[in-house]
Amino acid sequence: MAPRVKQLWVDWIWTPNCLVQCCKRQGIPGFSHHEILKVLQLRSMDTGQSWTILNSLRNHGMIFYTRVGKFVRLCVADPVFVRQILIDNAACYEKPSFIRSLSAIGDGIFSAAGKDWFHQRQIFQPRFLSKEIKRKLELIKEAAIEALYDCEQNLQFNNEKEIDIYQKFLELTLNSFGKFTFGSDLRSPMGEIFRSFDRYLYNNRKRMFGLASRLPGLLSLPTSVNQEIKEDEYRLQMIAVDLLEKETTRQHFEPDEEESLLALMLRLLRDEKLTEKQVIDNCVTFLLVGHETTASLLAWTTYLLALHPDWQERTRVEAAELCQKDALQWSDLSHLKTLNMILHESLRMFPPQPLVGRTCVSENSLGQFVIPKKLEVFIPIVSLHYSKEFWGDDADEFRPERFANGLSRASNNPLAFLPFGSGPRTCIGQVFALTEARVVLAMMLNKFSWKLSPQYQHCPDVALTLYPSFGMPIVLKKLSPP
Ligand code: HEM
Repeated sequence: MAPRVKQLWVDWIWTPNCLVQCCKRQGIPGFSHHEILKVLQLRSMDTGQSWTILNSLRNHGMIFYTRVGKFVRLCVADPVFVRQILIDNAACYEKPSFIRSLSAIGDGIFSAAGKDWFHQRQIFQPRFLSKEIKRKLELIKEAAIEALYDCEQNLQFNNEKEIDIYQKFLELTLNSFGKFTFGSDLRSPMGEIFRSFDRYLYNNRKRMFGLASRLPGLLSLPTSVNQEIKEDEYRLQMIAVDLLEKETTRQHFEPDEEESLLALMLRLLRDEKLTEKQVIDNCVTFLLVGHETTASLLAWTTYLLALHPDWQERTRVEAAELCQKDALQWSDLSHLKTLNMILHESLRMFPPQPLVGRTCVSENSLGQFVIPKKLEVFIPIVSLHYSKEFWGDDADEFRPERFANGLSRASNNPLAFLPFGSGPRTCIGQVFALTEARVVLAMMLNKFSWKLSPQYQHCPDVALTLYPSFGMPIVLKKLSPP
């Protein structure tokens, strides 16, 4: 057999068959991807269907496997197993094929493995600690004030305005994260960044879960999808290179200026502690994960508050006491109790990253099961977040008061709430994201009331994050001054 044909046979037939047999031998139930789609009468690439599929997984039990082309994936929603995957046996797992296929973020912290990842985590984590975010609170407030000022322009005669709030939140979060991380104003390349990421993530999803994932060879053919992926990858990398060049040639420095994350990366490049590829890939990584996720949290929280005007009013009363005239202080944030409960309920019902995946790189045990190398494992966070066993019979309902006594009392299992993941690869941006969400929503509640526009179509979808497929048009009404 020619070596190329042999490799195809190993990758597409031999290995997946061995993995399926291994699952079967251990009594793990299996559903073909096709079967799941058929039951739901869906095609995997239709708009909004990935959220429907994810939600449906909870009907298939705590552990099952599914096969799509060469990928055999084990779906695990049992907190005991989840703990073993993300925490106890974390060293036996790396990021899954979908994340590794995003070569624009290839060697960056989100997708790196082993020593390379550990080294980067040590570099970046201190930049996202509470004390750092506290020091830069003014930057976050500035971006929020700017965005809300924009919303106030061109109000109609009754002080109302219809606006796609998801788009506004994407702009706001990219703007503030750009200033926080890169010390740069990202408003001019903003359109290009959004367009490139949108198409890049959509095409990669198509490649990994559509027809190309089932037919050997399609992944490497010069198809229009593969061509577009290459173009977007190049464009995103060029945006990063441009940011780096601007920083390298910058002449003007403020007297007490702090080193930005970008300047830190350049210094470590000069000291040969990061490679050029790691620096570029991390720029793209931070551009991506630093804004879409928080915009998603803000959008779904706005949606829930629009559906529940009683909670909107209650949260407004609390915000009004604390942040009159945009004078919100760091110490006020922990007093926004109702808003904090609502943000947690929003993260439970609409987790911005509803799925966490891994590839097993070293055989290990999961309870009574043996997990072989190359098996992909995915944890549908939504299944845990909506489980009646952990949250009670009202798990499907919006009930922020379940968080009234803190996270640990909200459910009967600490691993039933995983919006930021868990273990060594837990999100490093969570303090930043929650701070930004509190600031933006507290200010917005002080200025406006809102309801969903009749144009809104409820169609959550997942690319890397959970987003409203057709945007989120709402009707904002400016509040009269007290
Ligand atoms: C509401 C907002 C956010 C949510 C829900 C969220 C969620 C997550 C989740 C679930 C993971 C773990 C993924 C895994 O285990 O495979 C993660 C990782 C990560 N997040 Fe976030 N994230 C948010 C905001 C941010 C922000 C603002 C940043 C900016 C710094 C960020 C940076 C990262 C990075 C760099 C990782 C990878 C960490 C590592 O592998 O060591 N995230 N995030």
